[in-house]
Amino acid sequence: MPRKILVTSALPYANGAIHLGHLVEYIQTDIWVRFQKMQPKDKVAECWYVCADDTHGTPIMLRAEKDGITPEALIERVHGEHSRDFAGFHVAFDNFYSTHSPETQECANTIYGRLKDAGLIEKRTIEQYYDPVKQMFLPDRFIKGECPKCGTKDQYGDNCESCGAAYTPNELKNPYSAVSGATPELRNSDHYFFKLSSETCQSFLRHWTREPGRLQSEASNKMQEWLGAEGENKLTDWDISRDAPYFGFEIPDAPGKYFYVWLDAPIGYMGSFKNLCARKGIDFDAYFKPDTETELYHFIGKDILYFHALFWPAELQHAGYRTPSGLCVHGFLTVDGAKMSKSRGTFITAESYLKTGLNPEWLRYYYAAKLNATMEDIDLNLDDFVARVNSDLVGKYVNIASRCAGFIGKKFDGKLAATDAEWLKPLREASVSIAQAYEEREFGRALREIMTLADTANVFVNDKKPWELAKQEDKETELHAACSQAIEAFRLLTLYLKPVLPKVAEAVESFLNVAPLNWGDAATPLPVSHVINAYSHLMTRVDPKLITALVEANKISLAPVPEAAPQKHTEKQEKAAENAKAVAEAGPHISIDDFMKVELKVAKIVDAGHVEGAEKLIRLSLDIGEEKPRQVFAGIKSAYDPAQLIGRMTVMVANLAPRKMKFGLSEGMILAASDPEGKAPGIFLLAPDAGAMPGMRVK
Ligand code: MSP
Ligand code: ZN
Repeated sequence: MPRKILVTSALPYANGAIHLGHLVEYIQTDIWVRFQKMQPKDKVAECWYVCADDTHGTPIMLRAEKDGITPEALIERVHGEHSRDFAGFHVAFDNFYSTHSPETQECANTIYGRLKDAGLIEKRTIEQYYDPVKQMFLPDRFIKGECPKCGTKDQYGDNCESCGAAYTPNELKNPYSAVSGATPELRNSDHYFFKLSSETCQSFLRHWTREPGRLQSEASNKMQEWLGAEGENKLTDWDISRDAPYFGFEIPDAPGKYFYVWLDAPIGYMGSFKNLCARKGIDFDAYFKPDTETELYHFIGKDILYFHALFWPAELQHAGYRTPSGLCVHGFLTVDGAKMSKSRGTFITAESYLKTGLNPEWLRYYYAAKLNATMEDIDLNLDDFVARVNSDLVGKYVNIASRCAGFIGKKFDGKLAATDAEWLKPLREASVSIAQAYEEREFGRALREIMTLADTANVFVNDKKPWELAKQEDKETELHAACSQAIEAFRLLTLYLKPVLPKVAEAVESFLNVAPLNWGDAATPLPVSHVINAYSHLMTRVDPKLITALVEANKISLAPVPEAAPQKHTEKQEKAAENAKAVAEAGPHISIDDFMKVELKVAKIVDAGHVEGAEKLIRLSLDIGEEKPRQVFAGIKSAYDPAQLIGRMTVMVANLAPRKMKFGLSEGMILAASDPEGKAPGIFLLAPDAGAMPGMRVK
C-alpha cells in the first residue's frame, strides 16, 4: 500500500527569533519531506508537513506585558517574522499555524475530556511557588535552583539541561524567582494532574518506547532509565494546569485554571493538521484513528524528548488516538565547537544570515552534509563551511554544467546527442542507495555518495576536455556526445540534490527545459535531440568576508538581554530577597540606566489627519531629524483637531518597538498628560520650550 505520511517539526516559541540552532531541525525535516514528496505516488501517496508557533505560557505573557502590547499582538507579529524566516530558508510547510487557534483548543478539550473519562485526570491541592513581589504563581521556567538529581546550579524548574532529568519545581534545591529575584513562597492552589504514574500509563510506555522504529536506540535507552525497571514505577503524575494570570486555554470545567503550555503544544500538531485538512479536503481521522496505516513522525531536538516520548504518546493512547510512528531526535548545534554565544556573535539569527547576503542553500547543504540519524550534536565550523560549500557545490557540482553547457548552446543549437552512455549507469543506479540514505535520515552519507558521483563526472569531463575538442573541426561528434553526457550526469546529480537544494534544482529544471524532477526520473535519460536552454550561473562561491560580516552583525544587533541575573548561592539569594523586599517597601524605583533605555526625542508634527474607522486615533507624521518622518497613531482625537496640530513641536518615544495596527504601522508614541481620576478631563500634549529642534534627545 502506498504510504501516507504526516511530518512535524517542533513548534517554535512565539517570543523569540529563529536562529541557526532552530534551523538544524527545520532544514532537516524539510529535506526529509521534500525527499518523500519526490517519490512516485505508488510508493508515497501523500506526505504532509505541518508546524505552528507555540504561543501560550507565562514567558509570552510577560514578554507582551514588557513590550506594552497584548499577547495576541505579540504572537501575530512573531508569526509574521517566523514565516518570513522559514520561507527565506526554503522550509516549505504545508501549514504553519498557531497553537492559539480554535482547532487546537477543540483538540485539547477533547483529549482532556477523554482522559478525564478514563479516570486519568485528578484534582489535587498543591503547594506551589508564589512570587510575593510580582504577585503571581511562578511557572517552572521562572524558578531556578539546583537540579535535585545531579546538583547542577541555575537549572530551570521543569527539567535539567545538564542531566536531562525532569522534575517539579518544588524539588529544586535553593529556589529563587527569575522574575524578581525574590525567594518564592509556597502557597496552596488546586491543580489538575495527568496520572502518568498509573499502571496503565507506565506499562504502556514501557512497551511503546521499546517498539522497533519508535525511538533511536540512544533515546530508547534514556527512556528505560527514566521509566525504571519493571515494577519500579518511577514516573510521577504530570501537572497540566496553571493558575490565572496565564495566556492559554481555560480548562472547560475549571474556571480560572488554564492548560499548561506543554499540554496544548503537541496538540498544536493536530490543530495545525486539522486546519490543513479542512482547507485541502484531507481525512483527519484517517491520520489519527488508533489502528491507522498512516505514518506520523515528529522531528524534535533532544531537549524535548521527555515531552514527546512519554507524555505525548500516553495522552494520545488513552484519549483513543494513534501514537507517533516514530520520533526523529537530533542533537544541538554548536558553532566553532562551542555553544552559540551572543558575545562572540555566534548566536546567529536566521534574519541576519539572509540580510548579510548569504545564500540559504549554502547552509542547507552544510547542515545536510553534517546530519545523520543520531542524537549527536552537530558543529557549524565557519571555516569548514566556506571550504565545503566552495569545493563541493561550486567546485564539483556546478562546475560540470558550467564547463559543458555553453558548447551545446553555441555549436548544437541547444540540442543534445544521446545520453545513455555506459559510464552513466552507476550514476543512475545510485538512486536506490541514495534514496535509502535519505529515508534513514543519513543525509551526510547521501551527500558523500552524491559527491563521489560528481567526482566521476568531473574525471570524465577532464579526460574529454571539451574546450580542446571544440578547437578541432573533426571532433564535433565527440564534443557533442561528451557535453550531452556530462549534462545528463548533471541532471542526475541535481535530482539527487533536490531535497537539499530546491531553488538550485528549480533553476536547473528550467535550464534543462524539463518538468520538475522526481525520483523516478533517474531511470529515464534525456532523449536525443532534447533542447536545453541557455546556461546562466547557478551559484557563487562563499566569500569569507561575508562570514566575518555575519558574526559582526550578530555581535552588534543583540544587546544584552535583560534577564534576571542568575543567583548562584544561598547567600546571593538572600541578598536578592532582601533587595526585593526593600524595593517593595520603598515603592518601585527604576535605575537611571532603566530610564536611559527610553529614547525621548523632540518631534515636529509635519502632518496630521483623521483615521477612517478609528474613534480615538489621529495619524501623525513626526519629523525627528530622520530621513523620513515617522508615522504614529495617537489616541488624542477627543482633545485635538488634526489641523490645529500641524507645525507643533512635541516629544516622542523614538525606540518603542514598531507596532502593526489595523490602520498601518505605528512607529513610536507621543507624550501627553492626563489625570487618571478624570478630575481635570482632557489630554494635554507635551511641548518643549521655543528653540528646541526636531531630533533633540530629551533626558
Ligand atoms: N515550543 C517548544 C516545542 C514544542 S513542540 C510541541 C520548543 N521550542 S523552541 O523554540 O525552544 O525549540 C524548537 C525546536 O528547535 C526544538 O526541537 C529544539 O530542540 C530545537 N532547537 C532549539 N535550539 C537548538 C539548537 N541550538 N540546536 C538544535 N536544535 C535546537 O522547544
Ligand atoms: Zn541534573
